Amino acid sequence: MTQPSRRSAEALIAPDRSASARALGVPPFLALDVMAEAKARRAAGEQVCHLEVGQPSGPAPRAACEATARLLATGEVGYTEALGRPSLRARIARRYAEVYGVAVPPERIVVTTGSSGGFTLAFLAAFAPGARVAIPSPGYPAYRAILLALGLEPVELATGPSSRWTMTAEMVAAAHAETPLAGALAMSPANPTGVVTAPGDLADLAATCRRLGIWLVSDEIYHGLTYEAPAATALAFDDDAIIVNSFSKYFAMTGWRIGWLVAPERLVRPIERLAQNLVISSPTLSQAGAEAALDDLETPEAYRAAYAANRALLLEGLPRLGFDEILPVDGAFYAYANVARFTNDSSAFAKALLAEAGVAITPGIDFDQARGRAYVRLSFAGSEAEVAEALDRMARWLPKR
Ligand SMILES: Cc1ncc(COP(=O)(O)O)c(C=O)c1O
Repeated sequence: MTQPSRRSAEALIAPDRSASARALGVPPFLALDVMAEAKARRAAGEQVCHLEVGQPSGPAPRAACEATARLLATGEVGYTEALGRPSLRARIARRYAEVYGVAVPPERIVVTTGSSGGFTLAFLAAFAPGARVAIPSPGYPAYRAILLALGLEPVELATGPSSRWTMTAEMVAAAHAETPLAGALAMSPANPTGVVTAPGDLADLAATCRRLGIWLVSDEIYHGLTYEAPAATALAFDDDAIIVNSFSKYFAMTGWRIGWLVAPERLVRPIERLAQNLVISSPTLSQAGAEAALDDLETPEAYRAAYAANRALLLEGLPRLGFDEILPVDGAFYAYANVARFTNDSSAFAKALLAEAGVAITPGIDFDQARGRAYVRLSFAGSEAEVAEALDRMARWLPKR
């Protein structure tokens, strides 16, 4: 390896020990900022309806809590294997056969600290520094932020009504033709839109990525939370896709910080080396809970029914309030609504709604820097009473604007 010159090494030292340009380039996650403010207001005694954050409000499946308590009672909570407990990896692999009819060997399952930890490992394992990765816009803001933090280049591909708000194979091929991509990150059901990619479109995307020789990373964290047709896994169309998933959403286990990857065999050892050094292992107690959760679907299915009722309430209530464009809410627990008839600044709109009516929602700018000023995201992961109360408050507040 050639040594950098003294001058180039000096140029990399931040003046006055300031934060690195890389860290400063990572944007804030506005939904979490709104959540912090909403929590502060609630702590100060205000009644706040929380529609800002994608977090189930009910507890984790009982079996998860019991298994965790049993392990905790033994006091034997050491590290696990970096790739995860073998029994959990085997159980997750079995889920692919149960749910999708797809055979996955346990050796290809990697247990991670939430899907967030999975992204870091997958991106580091698959992409060279500076590589370009296509992501959909609007989209989950952390994709862009994680890629930037890792010195990768997010390439945002704008979706719209013509592709039913899905990143298509054609978009990826066109971006690749312009300047080569190293990968594309798909998500279905999507955040913030709720859109489910049709199986045929996902198959096309997988085939195109394969033809172009680029990675397909598929974020399947909202699988299980669909209200029309179930979402397909990218593994069904390309055994070589990298799948990212988590116990956070369907299993209502956000704070347990447990997720998983399905990785192609040749990435598993590189990911293991990264995991050994970056995290050593995922939380042991949470792994025990997650394994038990996979056999206790009663709670997740009850939550899904509750979300479906909330969804119906919003889809009926929002248009009556004048929200005339809501993207297709096929899955997840979000309604992404156009607010252009109320405001040209959805951040100011969301701030005023929280301050004046006590309803916390997320401005679209979090998800789409170009068009987000015209959109807001409402999460319906909370209780039916909270969603109903939010609609009432908005009905009283909107005419006064
Ligand atoms: C699309 C999407 N992917 C990934 C995540 C990260 O979830 P976790 O790290 O809790 O698994 C979220 C969280 O909201 C999300 O919406």
